[in-house]
Amino acid sequence: MQVFSTISAVRAARPRIGTLGFVPTMGFLHDGHLSLVRRAVTECDNVAVSIFVNPTQFCPGEDFSRYPRNMEHDLALLREAGVTFVFTPEPAEMYPPRFATSIDVGAVAHPLEGAVRPGHFSGVATIVCKLFNIVQPARAYFGQKDAQQCAVIRQLVADLNLPIEIVTGEIIRNSEGLALSSRNSYLSEADRTRATVLHAALQAARTQVEAGERNVDVLKTVIRDILTREPDFLVDYISIADPDSLHELSRIEHKSLASLAVRVGPTRLLDNVILQPV
Ligand code: PAJ
Repeated sequence: MQVFSTISAVRAARPRIGTLGFVPTMGFLHDGHLSLVRRAVTECDNVAVSIFVNPTQFCPGEDFSRYPRNMEHDLALLREAGVTFVFTPEPAEMYPPRFATSIDVGAVAHPLEGAVRPGHFSGVATIVCKLFNIVQPARAYFGQKDAQQCAVIRQLVADLNLPIEIVTGEIIRNSEGLALSSRNSYLSEADRTRATVLHAALQAARTQVEAGERNVDVLKTVIRDILTREPDFLVDYISIADPDSLHELSRIEHKSLASLAVRVGPTRLLDNVILQPV
């Protein structure tokens, strides 16, 4: 496995490497990231992974400087998974002094995470577009855990005619149902157990839909009632929306995305589930 920290090194090596699958990450890898990597290794001749904590997708006051990092461990995991090369640039490599462009993908980036974290998705779209141009993958893998990010990337790829197939991997959870996240490392043991209420709330909504409930207000109340079992968890939003446009729905008529964000002390946790009327 090769490790490149400069764009010129990737460009020099790229012609000798065939078709590539690509998994962009911010590192501190867990089984969620690795599920994408393992799938890419199965489905692609070669696999590239990037590890870059992208400063432009963090809002002022967020956790950029204390975001967890463990490069040596990450590289060992990727080597073991059979990755071809890893791209690990420093911020100055990606954002030289006169850097100025940013990509706005429009309405899909405005609600939910975009409303709570202004500028976040333009930071994501811009860095992912840059990484695509550097790595030049045929396929790129993203986790359903960040459902709105997936919608933003699909919009980016469609609008800018990027010749890349976007693959979405299912959410990987711990044995209690908590979606794996690098930010779970900020939680105490007790809070990590209490945080399983996020998944429980979404599962309850899914059960209601399976039983025939179609009214979104009713489903949101079901979710909120379960979340408030942990009264000190602050709910940023509970959304039931179209999975592509992120438009809020009033009834479940097609496949829909139920998503939520909750603050546990200074840590924001996201989770979502697909609701499928039968
Ligand atoms: P990061 O949070 O490191 O996540 C990298 C990829 O792993 C994303 O596609 C994310 O959705 C996926 N992932 C995270 N937790 C997961 C889980 N529990 N199950 C399945 N997939 C999971 O997302 C980013 O980095 C950045 O925004 C990035 C796209 C790299 C741009 O900077």
